[in-house]
Formats: sequence, C-alpha cells, structure tokens
Amino acid sequence: MRKKLVAGNWKMHGSLRQNAALLEQLKFGIAEVQCDVAVCVPYPFLAQVQSVLAGTQLLWGAQSVSEHESGAFTGEVSAAMLREFGCCYALVGHSERRSLFGESDALVAAKFVAAQKAGLVPILCLGESLVEREAGQTKAVVSRQLRAVIDVAGICGLMSAVVAYEPVWAIGTGVTASPAQAQEVHAAIRAQVGGLDGELATGLRILYGGSVKPQNAAELFKQADIDGGLIGGAALVAEDFLAICLAAN
Ligand code: PGA
Repeated sequence: MRKKLVAGNWKMHGSLRQNAALLEQLKFGIAEVQCDVAVCVPYPFLAQVQSVLAGTQLLWGAQSVSEHESGAFTGEVSAAMLREFGCCYALVGHSERRSLFGESDALVAAKFVAAQKAGLVPILCLGESLVEREAGQTKAVVSRQLRAVIDVAGICGLMSAVVAYEPVWAIGTGVTASPAQAQEVHAAIRAQVGGLDGELATGLRILYGGSVKPQNAAELFKQADIDGGLIGGAALVAEDFLAICLAAN
C-alpha cells in the first residue's frame, strides 16, 4: 500500500506573520491526519518553517532548486542549502517554472538529479496545456516529460521521488480534472514506469494537482492510481488544507 502524501505549494504567497498563524493551525490540526503532509514554501520562509515544524509530523520543502551544486549562479539556491534547512522535498518542473521561466525538460531533469544527489526527494511535476489536451496529446506530453527525467536519472531515480500530475488548465483555474480524467493519466504514468520496473511502479507515489479543494479531494484520492495531492490555493487556508489531508485518510 502506498502511503498518501498531501503537499502544499504556497507559491509566492505568505508573510512571516501570516505563516505563523497558518503553521500553528496546521500543527494543531495535523494530529488527526494519517497521510504524509508537507508544505513547499518560498525560500526566505524556510528558517521559520524549520523552527516551527521541527519535531512535528509535518515535513517541508522548496518550490524549485538549482541544477548546480555551488558556484557563481547569482540568485540561485542549491539543494545542499535546502537540506541545511531541513527540507525533505523540492518541487521540480512545476508548470509555472516551465512556462513562465522557460524551464525545459532537460533543465528539469538536471534539477531532479541535483535535488536527489543532495538527499532531497524531488516532486516531479508533469502536465499538459489545454491546447495539448484538446489536440489529444495529453499522454504523449506527460510521457515525454517523464522520459526526459528517466533518461538522465535512470529508472532508479524514481525510487526516492514523487511524481505529480498537474494538468496546466486545472492549475489555479477552479477547473479540476474529473477523477476519471486524472486516473487515466495517472495509470498511464504508472504503466510507463512499470514497463521499465514493475516493482518500482507499484511503490511510486503519483499526486494529482490542479484546483484540489475539500469538496473534490476525497473523490480524486479514491482513484486507484492517485496517491495524494499537490495543493496550491487551498494550501493557504488551514481549514481547507487540513480537510484535504483528512480526505486522504
Ligand atoms: P492550485 O495549484 O491547487 O491552486 O490549482 C496547484 C499547483 O500549482 O501546484
């Protein structure tokens, strides 16, 4: 049985003050939650998150990571630095990074490897745009994005990694993929991995992301190949995020 994971993606939101209240509420509410729970926060908040969440069952991570170990890369943050702040996870290849910051499949693969090398668990985000879905290219796009990482990291790279399927048209739009639509892509991802390593595919956690809310979480998480969620907007409201975590119980 794969243990479910619910990861919050705060994106570029929050302040020390707001976070303090949100984290306290999460700490309080988490006792009833059985799945793994993490928050992926902006870099400047990592110290706060570390000091508030250390010793609790909540884990934390970053929203991106440099592909380089160290050096003259102004503005970048390395995986080893993230480890020093107790990060367990790093998102790689979020669709906003791909589309707004021009991250290619190759760059995402390099970031995946860099994260893993430093002991972080990469959460590899995959997903098609609306145009791609309407052109019937969903599985081809997701498969290409996944293959780019497997080509560089090897299939073993997926052993300590999480995959998140996030259809771009569902992110922040209020339009969620139906449970059946999501399940179909999740099954295809698992089959692709299974073609290379069956045991690994069985253990691989594949999260769904894109307008997950307390109202739709349970139905999504019930699907055979959906192992939790990557939550944006709803992760900023303690009540909603905790309700989604409980839906994964
Ligand atoms: P959303 O974002 O839940 O606000 O749609 C999900 C994500 O971008 O990870």
